Amino acid sequence: MNRGNSRTVLVPGRINPRVRERLEREFEPVFIDKADPGLMDEGARAGIRGMATATAISASFIDAFPNLEIIANFGVGYDAVDAAHAASKAVMVTNTPDVLTDEVADTTIGLLLNTLRELPKAEAYLRAGRWAAEGAYPLTSLTLRGRTAGIFGLGRIGLAIARRLEAFGIEIQYHTRNKRSDVDYPWHETLLSLATAVDLLIVVVPGGAATDNAVNAEILDALGTDGVLISVGRGSTIDEPALIEALEQNRIAAAGLDVFANEPNAPKALIDLPNACLLPHVASASVSTRNAMADLVVDNLAAWFDGRPAITPVPECKDLNKGN
Ligand code: DGY
Repeated sequence: MNRGNSRTVLVPGRINPRVRERLEREFEPVFIDKADPGLMDEGARAGIRGMATATAISASFIDAFPNLEIIANFGVGYDAVDAAHAASKAVMVTNTPDVLTDEVADTTIGLLLNTLRELPKAEAYLRAGRWAAEGAYPLTSLTLRGRTAGIFGLGRIGLAIARRLEAFGIEIQYHTRNKRSDVDYPWHETLLSLATAVDLLIVVVPGGAATDNAVNAEILDALGTDGVLISVGRGSTIDEPALIEALEQNRIAAAGLDVFANEPNAPKALIDLPNACLLPHVASASVSTRNAMADLVVDNLAAWFDGRPAITPVPECKDLNKGN
């Protein structure tokens, strides 16, 4: 691979503060407000060799940088980066797997318990003085006890969630495109079959065309009236209007969501629903985990700029590491 000598890295849009600090110390960063090539002249664009990003990077944006070599995505999910196009132009894309797995799995369990046992509502009840004034918080109609969990997407995070649920005494089943040979959980060839078999569906697949609106009205009806949906992957995987209708009509019992189709705008209809438990995409959002993600973003750039292979290439770009 023929690489230039500059250490010029573009940051389009907002980025984690630790990424910014390290880039300022170790690279020559250029910050622009958003991923719009019109914000730079041709000469400046030609000087860019790397990008650090937490925003959408389209094919046309990639094309605007003739000497771009690497895009380091802040996040394990990289559906917002056109990685297939980047790979076709020999541009490396990296993401931040592993360092957030346990944090996201922990948060998923918290969201699940909050959804079933209404813990945020019970705390609000206490804080409002209603325990003293009105007596005990009403018993919750839902519980984790006796449920069977179906995990849609048994990758690193899905497996970490499954292991935690096992410790809770919960039976696990799963759906992935291909059956895993390293787990004993029952596998379902289709999402519909999984949703029919379980009463707790945990969605942790990556976003993108393959999973777009995969959880639709048919899947929700298969989950059934006692069914609970938990979603921590990408909002695009859930057909939100269908979910809202199913919750309004009590065709499923409840949903806990950390991700939404049009973030940061969670639909008002969901906010208004008593059987929806909503978080603002915080699954990996602790200082320590976000710092680890930040370090991995910059370490990937550092490795590449030093002539070493990228540390965590996305699957589309693995071949670009060969010979480095
Ligand atoms: C990820 O890493 O993809 C999480 O959604 C956090 O942004």
